Amino acid sequence: MADSLFLGLDVGTSAVKAILVSPAGAVTAAATAPLSLETPRPGWAEQDPETWWQASGTAIRRVLEQRTGARVAAVGISGQMHSSVFLDRAGAVIRPALLWCDGRTTAECREIVQRAGGEAHLREWVCNAALEGFTLPKVLWLRNHEPAAFARLATVLLAKDFIRLRLTGTVATEPSDASGTLMFDPAGLRWSGPMLDAVGLSRSLLPEVGGSSQVLGRVTDQAGALTGLAPGTPVVGGGADNACGAAGVGAITPGEAVSSWGTSGTVLAPTAEPRVDPGLRAHTFCHVAPGVWYVMGVVLSAGGAFAWYRDQVARDLADTDHPEARLVEEAASVPPGAEGVTFLPYLQGERTPHRDASLRAAFVGLSLAHSRAHMTRAVLEGACFALRDCLAVLEELGLGPACLLVTGGGARSAFIRRLQADIFGLPVTTVNREEGPAYGAALLAGVGAGAYPDLASAARCTLTREPPAPPDPEAHRAYQQVYERFRARLVAARA
Ligand code: XUL
Repeated sequence: MADSLFLGLDVGTSAVKAILVSPAGAVTAAATAPLSLETPRPGWAEQDPETWWQASGTAIRRVLEQRTGARVAAVGISGQMHSSVFLDRAGAVIRPALLWCDGRTTAECREIVQRAGGEAHLREWVCNAALEGFTLPKVLWLRNHEPAAFARLATVLLAKDFIRLRLTGTVATEPSDASGTLMFDPAGLRWSGPMLDAVGLSRSLLPEVGGSSQVLGRVTDQAGALTGLAPGTPVVGGGADNACGAAGVGAITPGEAVSSWGTSGTVLAPTAEPRVDPGLRAHTFCHVAPGVWYVMGVVLSAGGAFAWYRDQVARDLADTDHPEARLVEEAASVPPGAEGVTFLPYLQGERTPHRDASLRAAFVGLSLAHSRAHMTRAVLEGACFALRDCLAVLEELGLGPACLLVTGGGARSAFIRRLQADIFGLPVTTVNREEGPAYGAALLAGVGAGAYPDLASAARCTLTREPPAPPDPEAHRAYQQVYERFRARLVAARA
């Protein structure tokens, strides 16, 4: 086992990332292949699953090229949650996937609540609200709007499970992703019969559910030829990107909390039992560690808002190295609060705490005296205030942490880490690895290959935490007022 490597693959929204991890936890190779997002109408968001498979093939090939002759003991896959892969009987993709940040299914969410006989049943059966981003409303949308496509529908899969299918020929999922479909009972760890009956869908549309570190398939000859992986290489269950991201920083026990800044932003806290927010503003999902759940608040546009802003407002930086780092430098030259400018980051609506797919983004408070630096600062602060709204829900549920682990692209920026500490009023820390969900997926592969007895041991053997960075009390006080302004401007914008 000592010379074996574990391959972690993360099917994100902006890219697929592949890494090779040694049993001691070193990342010995990494490669990414970019993805683009289609927005055919405002509020919609789609990707063709075949582009995930092409990008996965590219990322795996590139990572293996960096370590010729290496033995991959197992593969773990992580991926964007909820996004609906619709397959016909032959396993062909019927139409582009509706993504986690797609907001077109408001009518279907109402239909679900009505067919279930009220939200109390959703709480009881699936621990979550009917929200546009989840998978079930997307299946009903297909039934309501594209009946010919629905008539061909044989299987509904999630992003990483589609890659598993292409790699191994196995149709399977695991609890962390299944619990984001609104068709799975996170407490009973099985597909929810009452929910499927209420909406009139057949259980046969859904895959078998295995364990996150259990071997659920093996690389086929065909996928081996395409990716460079040895045929027969085991592929474990893997997990939802938020769960794998938390595992990738070792956050699998109650008392911890993780803030992740990817395309979305999330704040999650592991729990020893399924804890449900009475207002259903936060989600309740299974973790990738058996017997652990988590409560999570979701910001639909965090890094995604910053990437949109970069592409629209900073085109002059497009050909420079690290345009985002250049923008962050500009933002740092402006004081907290961006001298009166607020950005409401709701480009695709919002989940926590607003549960409103129709919300939209805005810059408020601009004057002739303001520059791009102010706008950039407002974008970064706006995403952090939205994350703070999520943290507030967790605190209300008694899940507020003493220290917050930060991960995702934003955790790589010292400025964004400091913003989070000062806005949240909490010490923040990171670990010695910054690969996020791909790293968690690689640890699950290591457990499946028998290199570690369980995920907790895998995390202990591979991860160390940096000393926590405390918030600056003066900056925190200043941000309190700016946060109140942010909330007041949102209320005014919605009025
Ligand atoms: C979580 C969610 C997003 C995606 C991003 O509920 O929708 O964080 O998982 O890939």
